[in-house]
Amino acid sequence: MAFVKLARVEEIPPGQTKYVCPEGRPVILANYDGGIYALTGICPHRNNPLEGAILWDHLIDCPFHHFQYDVRTGENHFPRNVYPPDLPRLQTQLRPLKVFPVKIEDGWIWADLS
Ligand code: FES
Repeated sequence: MAFVKLARVEEIPPGQTKYVCPEGRPVILANYDGGIYALTGICPHRNNPLEGAILWDHLIDCPFHHFQYDVRTGENHFPRNVYPPDLPRLQTQLRPLKVFPVKIEDGWIWADLS
């Protein structure tokens, strides 16, 4: 898939997120530390949409059960940092969000959703 147009840059102020669903593909956008990030818009915990997610510093906080994901890498931050690593059932709930390449052109945010 080629790059897909997602939103205007000004729609996502610093420290904010925006949920979009181009071509039926949920994406969560985040403006963190001067950069725009695009990640899978579905939380791997229970497959709920990340619409309305809050950005805490570099962490996207799922509005359902507050799993947190690093906006730069998609890796789970919480609860991974509190669960013992030897609990396999819990480990399966800690899958990362996919991070998509982003480009900005003429004030539009594009992401490669392939
Ligand atoms: S669905 Fe996101 S934390 Fe449970």
